[in-house]
Amino acid sequence: MSTKIFALAILAGGLVACGGGDAAPADDATVDAPAAAPAVASAGATEYTNNCSVCHQADGNGMPGAFPPLAGSTIVNAPSPDQMIMIVLKGLQGPVTVNGVEYNGIMTPFQDILTDEQIASILTYERASFGNTGSAVTAEQVAAIRAQYADKTDSWTIESLEAAMP
Ligand code: HEC
Repeated sequence: MSTKIFALAILAGGLVACGGGDAAPADDATVDAPAAAPAVASAGATEYTNNCSVCHQADGNGMPGAFPPLAGSTIVNAPSPDQMIMIVLKGLQGPVTVNGVEYNGIMTPFQDILTDEQIASILTYERASFGNTGSAVTAEQVAAIRAQYADKTDSWTIESLEAAMP
């Protein structure tokens, strides 16, 4: 019946704001939505493997003489995640002592590689793994630090980091 066809045309055309008269039914508009996002922790584990473990190792113990451990690190377990966020965004270089051992390497910045969400999930994972006991980190916390240091072009040293966040 013609009224029925008319109604279908309205449905098909009315949802897009053009009404160009093409009443051909759109492709199935009810494509299944992807499954719910995986838990933050498991997303963080995958991102950690992809971005951090080549240096800090899967077990978070780093490599003696080259890459400091994240396991037991004061910065990783600090009540505020701000310094960790700052390091991941901008990188870190120069002498740093972690768990009583001195390192003097270069960690490159991740600000152009990882989104706020990715950094938040990685840091949440790190702070809850390897025996660490830090609180979860949100994308909003990362975004705030990113905005605060948007104009900073060089990497942190441990001195500049501590001066910025005593
Ligand atoms: C290319 C190797 C490399 C990669 C990849 C890397 N790091 Fe690092 N990271 C380092 C080095 C080297 C240092 C120490 C820099 C220094 O000596 O000043 C460091 C230091 C750190 C520290 C400070 C630890 C402390 O207690 O002072 C944190 C936190 C950290 N990295 C987190 C991360 C996270 C998170 C990732 C992944 C997003 C990551 N790193 C990826 C090499 C790396």
